[in-house]
Amino acid sequence: MQIIILGAAAGGGLPQWNCGCDNCNAARAGRIPSLTQSSIAVSADGRDWAVLNASPDIRAQLAATPALHPTGPRDMPLRAVLVTNGDIDHVAGLLTLRESQPFDLYATAAIHDALAANPMMGAVNPDFVPRRTVALDQTVELTPGLTATLFAVPGKVPLYQEGAVVETGLMGETTVGVELRAGDRRALYIPGCADLPDWLRDRIAGADALFFDGTLWQDDEMIRMGLGRKTGRRMGHMAATDTMPALAGTTIGRRIFVHMNNSNPLTDPDSPETAQAVAAGWQVGRDGMEISL
Ligand code: MLT
Ligand code: MN
Ligand code: ZN
Repeated sequence: MQIIILGAAAGGGLPQWNCGCDNCNAARAGRIPSLTQSSIAVSADGRDWAVLNASPDIRAQLAATPALHPTGPRDMPLRAVLVTNGDIDHVAGLLTLRESQPFDLYATAAIHDALAANPMMGAVNPDFVPRRTVALDQTVELTPGLTATLFAVPGKVPLYQEGAVVETGLMGETTVGVELRAGDRRALYIPGCADLPDWLRDRIAGADALFFDGTLWQDDEMIRMGLGRKTGRRMGHMAATDTMPALAGTTIGRRIFVHMNNSNPLTDPDSPETAQAVAAGWQVGRDGMEISL
């Protein structure tokens, strides 16, 4: 199994267009690497690829990734796109993929419903991009030799669907993790997750690789930095400082944080927090990082 991190940042990216925090300023100045928004590409054979989450940066991500370049006038190695929730950072890139190029679009029924409720998504012509509905715990073959099983993880509805009361530990079809298998290799991709209950730890145990929600370092960092009013928990994300101890005793081949918010000190390769994560056995995802399992 080959995995390429197309974008390691959370919604907004690094730098985020309207953010003057230290990390965003450092990225603008080139002192730390910029990061595009949340997406990975996966293949079992190196020829046919699936993209998990279509970020608003997908055009630049595809251009920067030779494995996904066209192989003929209108031939592409992209066979499938799977989205793990309806958040804008995970679906807005679908609009970029609208040029009558065939691929299969996989999601749960609830996520497909959220997309279908937006008439603009009709521009991604279903004649070329069939909507494949995946039930929870159902396994589908995304590309030859690469299967995906979707499972509910604690999360919430997309921001644009939030009502007056928001349930943040919601289990259902709105936020899913993905179990990827190719041959005897197993990887888990969980870019958004509000909690790590025992059953999830058991599911992760023994994986060759885990790509996990690294949105925030600490639950209240956006409030303390004056960047927002929400905790990570309120946004449906658990903090890295909670995730690391929760998985400390779990056997995992490689553990990699993805979906980093620009407030997260892990975006700075030289920060003490990055050193702390590395000492705890974690890697911090970066754009273009390739993992072969
Ligand atoms: C999130 O991961 O919390 C969302 O991407 C937030 C958003 O939609 O901006
Ligand atoms: Mn997000
Ligand atoms: Zn910032």
